[in-house]
Amino acid sequence: MVEGECDAVDLNLGCPQRIARRGGYGAFLMDDLSSVESIVSTLAQGLSIPVTCKIRVFPDLERTLEYARMLERAQCAMLAVHGRTRDQKDNNATRADWDAISAVKNAVTIPVLANGNIRDLEDVRRCLEYTGADGVLSAQSLLENPALFDEKCFQLDSTADPLRGCRLLREYLQLAVQHPVPNRMMKTHVYRLLGDWFSEFTDIREQLNRDRSSSFQECLNFLSSIADAVERRIAASGRDHPIPVPIERKSAIERQERIQAAREEQRREEESLAEIGVKVQ
Ligand SMILES: Cc1cc2nc3c(=O)[nH]c(=O)nc-3n(C[C@H](O)[C@H](O)[C@H](O)COP(=O)(O)O)c2cc1C
Repeated sequence: MVEGECDAVDLNLGCPQRIARRGGYGAFLMDDLSSVESIVSTLAQGLSIPVTCKIRVFPDLERTLEYARMLERAQCAMLAVHGRTRDQKDNNATRADWDAISAVKNAVTIPVLANGNIRDLEDVRRCLEYTGADGVLSAQSLLENPALFDEKCFQLDSTADPLRGCRLLREYLQLAVQHPVPNRMMKTHVYRLLGDWFSEFTDIREQLNRDRSSSFQECLNFLSSIADAVERRIAASGRDHPIPVPIERKSAIERQERIQAAREEQRREEESLAEIGVKVQ
């Protein structure tokens, strides 16, 4: 069934969300490594395409290394290691442990991908050098800068390009026309892409918060007008960065956005589970 339709099967053994705890999957399978071993080896033996895994680390390095070696024995073809433990859910609060990733790389012979603390292309280079990993994964930073892996963009010192977020947003909206997604998902991307500037242009942010566009096209037009408005304000400001907002206000905004993102994530997860008929109590 799977062969011919995809290139590989990846097992998510790293999800730390409440829903994963309730469902006993993701990072909560770290409590039942014999099941993990059996799932990976059964898949690897039954499929002709590679089976790969993404894990979190244990607080104890030796347990992490045993875990990685077990996955290799079970014929996991490639291992992505998120250098945070299951309890370190707030990525901004804890740095990923690159030493642990490096130790895993030395403990197995399969390719290892490093995950955590990759915010720009310089981090990619530093991480590959430090950990010896074969590649990196990045998630949260890509939401703010989808051009993160674009060498050309980086060389042009894109961090100093104040209109980059607006340009990327327009490109994103064009892609959304080709690959439509629910309105709320498009809006989440707008918050991420223009987030820094919204902390200064709070009236535009308010407009976005209040928007109740019903159709996809209506929402698309609205978001395009938001990109125009922010671009005009940035050009008029003559600055390449927003005026810093007071720390307390910034952290309150960020906290609110993190809560919103977590809710969004949970809803997505529940929808995916409902689609395959799984009910989580
Ligand atoms: C929006 C979003 C969705 C994610 N979904 C998954 C997922 O389905 N499976 C998974 O293993 N990790 C998922 N993660 C976690 C990331 O893959 C990654 O391990 C984590 O964010 C740390 O990397 P970062 O510091 O580059 O963000 C998700 C992260 C984000 C921001």
